[in-house]
Amino acid sequence: MKDSEIRQAVRDILKANTHEGWSKKFRTEYCYIQPSPGTYPYQYFWDTCLHVFILTALDEYELAKKNILSLFAMQNEDGFVGHMLFWTRPLPAKATDFFQGRPGLNLFQPHMTALVQPPLVAQAVQRIHEGTQDKEFLRVIVPKLKKYFDWLAAHRDIDGDGLISIITPFESGMDWKPTFDEVVGFRKGVGNRELFWRVVSVDARNFLHRYKISTLVRRNYFRVKEVGFNAIYCQNLTAMAELCDVLGDPDADRYRVLARKVMNAMIEQMYDREAEAFYDIQAKSGEKIRVLTPTIMFPLVIREMPSEIAGALVRRHLSDEPEFGTPYPLPSVARNDPSFYPFESEYLWRGPIWIFSNWFIYQCLYYHNYREEAELLRKTIRTLIEQSGFREYYNPFTGEGYGAEKFTWSGLVVDMLNIDGGVSDDSESSRAG
Ligand code: GLC
Repeated sequence: MKDSEIRQAVRDILKANTHEGWSKKFRTEYCYIQPSPGTYPYQYFWDTCLHVFILTALDEYELAKKNILSLFAMQNEDGFVGHMLFWTRPLPAKATDFFQGRPGLNLFQPHMTALVQPPLVAQAVQRIHEGTQDKEFLRVIVPKLKKYFDWLAAHRDIDGDGLISIITPFESGMDWKPTFDEVVGFRKGVGNRELFWRVVSVDARNFLHRYKISTLVRRNYFRVKEVGFNAIYCQNLTAMAELCDVLGDPDADRYRVLARKVMNAMIEQMYDREAEAFYDIQAKSGEKIRVLTPTIMFPLVIREMPSEIAGALVRRHLSDEPEFGTPYPLPSVARNDPSFYPFESEYLWRGPIWIFSNWFIYQCLYYHNYREEAELLRKTIRTLIEQSGFREYYNPFTGEGYGAEKFTWSGLVVDMLNIDGGVSDDSESSRAG
């Protein structure tokens, strides 16, 4: 496929999945993109940010702005924004969604869940500003972002070390990521009904305690400092500082200092020098959870990350055959982990490739000058799309596409085409695998 054909296909999917209307309850227009109409019909927090990366790569700035404004249209007074916004179809689409709202909500009215998702939003807004230089938009949205990031620090930096705790696996955005097995008491292995009930019961308990953080912490329920979430948080605190700079807002320094604190805490608490990997940690005990997934490399997205750490991670893990060296990289858990299952399954993020991870690690590698390794990930994405279409996830041995169809995230490929100017418009892609 030519670059221009890929761009057109992505634009078509995003446009077809766009929903606009008027909310009587919130007295506002809304506009969001469904990640996949059949499977994921709502507005999701980090999906919206990914959509903005895609839209801005396609010069669709007005649509990108509308998506961000809708994301913040239900924001609570204290700054909180939920991970799913139900604008028109309030009832949950999946059984696992049910306990993610606050009890007592009128489920027939537009509302949002009580969970958070990785906060890529400052970077998303930055992209819009880079392309439009629209300061007026920043004046409207940055105060909302500040409230949101301040909510995260006030409510989820529970130990005061800068690191954010998540209170359910779903807050990682990588729902059934095998790191969490140990935390929910599931013995190692491929996903099954037992895992389902153990994870859902985390949400059920949180729900019964009305998502009151002090109670959840006191009772020592699920609490994990997850590498992916915190790497993204750190990167976006820096983006917050830069957005504040544009507006001449002195809070820029506050966000810069916090970003540095988060990075240092990640190195100190999550980085394992022997294993050369960043591990998620059990928040209460500080114990590392020694499972290899692509997030062990996510902190490389922080540009100030020392180069010896970057080198160690890339050398040791990236193309290592028993771990991430599959014909189509990167699997969502190391292939030698007992949870690894490369086929279609309701237990997501336990083997197959997610375009998101390749896109994310592509940037990490690119920033730290591992251009060849980065290029392999980009080629893999193109090959997967050409071979199997825009799917939710793919088999790392055969490239077969699985899960949701017309899935928007695969559109991140257009952002990668732009990162270094891409391949020329009329070139055919080369094949990976
Ligand atoms: C899946 C993903 C989650 C995403 C949602 C909608 O649950 O794991 O990250 O937000 O789908 O695309």
